[in-house]
Amino acid sequence: NTKKLWGGRFTGKTDPLMEKFNESLPFDKRLWAEDIKGSQAYAKALAKAGILAHDEAVTIVEGLAKVAEEWKAGAFVIKAGDEDIHTANERRLTELVGAVGGKLHTGRSRNDQVATDYRLWLVGQVEVMRSEVGELMRVAADRSEAEVEVLMPGFTHLQNAMTVRWSHWLMSHAAAWQRDDMRLRDLLPRVATLPLGSGALAGNPFLVDRQFIAKELGFGGGVCPNSMDAVSDRDFVIETVFAASLLCVHLSRWAEDLIIYSSGPFGYVQCSDAYATGSSLMPQKKNPDALELIRGKGGRVQGNLMGVMAVLKGTPTTYNKDFQECWELLFDTVDTVHDVVRIATGVLSTLRIKPDRMKAGLSADMLATDLAEYLVRKGVPFRETHHHSGAAVKMAEDRGCTLFDLTVDDLKTIHPLFTDDVAAVWDFNRSAEMRDTEGGTSKRSVLEQVQKMRTYLAAE
Ligand code: ARG
Repeated sequence: NTKKLWGGRFTGKTDPLMEKFNESLPFDKRLWAEDIKGSQAYAKALAKAGILAHDEAVTIVEGLAKVAEEWKAGAFVIKAGDEDIHTANERRLTELVGAVGGKLHTGRSRNDQVATDYRLWLVGQVEVMRSEVGELMRVAADRSEAEVEVLMPGFTHLQNAMTVRWSHWLMSHAAAWQRDDMRLRDLLPRVATLPLGSGALAGNPFLVDRQFIAKELGFGGGVCPNSMDAVSDRDFVIETVFAASLLCVHLSRWAEDLIIYSSGPFGYVQCSDAYATGSSLMPQKKNPDALELIRGKGGRVQGNLMGVMAVLKGTPTTYNKDFQECWELLFDTVDTVHDVVRIATGVLSTLRIKPDRMKAGLSADMLATDLAEYLVRKGVPFRETHHHSGAAVKMAEDRGCTLFDLTVDDLKTIHPLFTDDVAAVWDFNRSAEMRDTEGGTSKRSVLEQVQKMRTYLAAE
């Protein structure tokens, strides 16, 4: 234990199982670059504070660059006692530059160091997630514009409801993705807030310039305002995993729609071969596995959210080793989201749509609301027109025909204001075009939604 960074007061050996239980290097070595960047900035701050001579700081910064080279080349050798990425890098630095390496950790704790490393890493990951979601939105906008003429049944309760544009459906999902993107944008400054310079919990006695470190590392959110909170706070993990979970909920619902639409009775869409798989037994099968996996991964990421929240709850103020349990859940979340969004983009950009099948899904009863609205335009209160149109639906149902088959005379028996011009109602495209308010399913409105999304994407 004398070899350990903290070994001074220890005489007994660590149980080998405890060694393994305690170590985080197998996963946090992923942060080697961030850990080195953070240490380089800290060495400069120590020099600025007069704790390191200029040449000592240069030696340390250059030594750290050599350690980074080793990681990059895959040549870094992990040794027994390298508990985590912080101890591993410091151990190697001291081997390379000698005793002066031992000055690097002055006033610093792994508590402010670890939070700094993960925040630094996560900022980059959130930015990548945003560009992935942006690409998905772009594909949705492009398809929506190109396929704006295509009509399909819109559902509520999965029951035939009203005529909508296929593009309107697609943009409805893109609207949720846009909120996800905004959520990621909004949480970013809270991730990019600097804990370093907080010490173990009480602050830094060597008066390192925290604003300087924040600038060096590109922390746009400034510095954590309270050193105890700085080492205690894992909100940046929870918030990101939450935003990721909600994004996955949205993608899961999108996938579920497409799974339904690709099923035999619907047949509105077909996944390209690149994102489907077959059956080992049934030769005819083409299963939407990519979409099912997107739906399933949503459950996994949501589990991670419950995991990080449960780890945090009940821990006393400042740092506790429990926190180490958050990292693998965070890594898994970020990795999963990258895959899910990229696969979703692949599925969407290669999806085949079948406008004829969608059209065939439109049924006359989906114009019952339009029939009621016809009477509204003749001055009848909507509550009454709803009943008159309902009576027409019942008449058709009783006769075993559709609304289309009712004559004007039939309709006149329900209400005298039904006249010849009622024939115009029996038109699905007209029904869609009538809904021309902002956000509606008219062609103009859907194209406007596309345009607004493009404006947002261009500005972000
Ligand atoms: N591997 C640790 C973690 O991930 C680093 C911080 C350790 N700090 C400490 N005081 N033991 O949380």
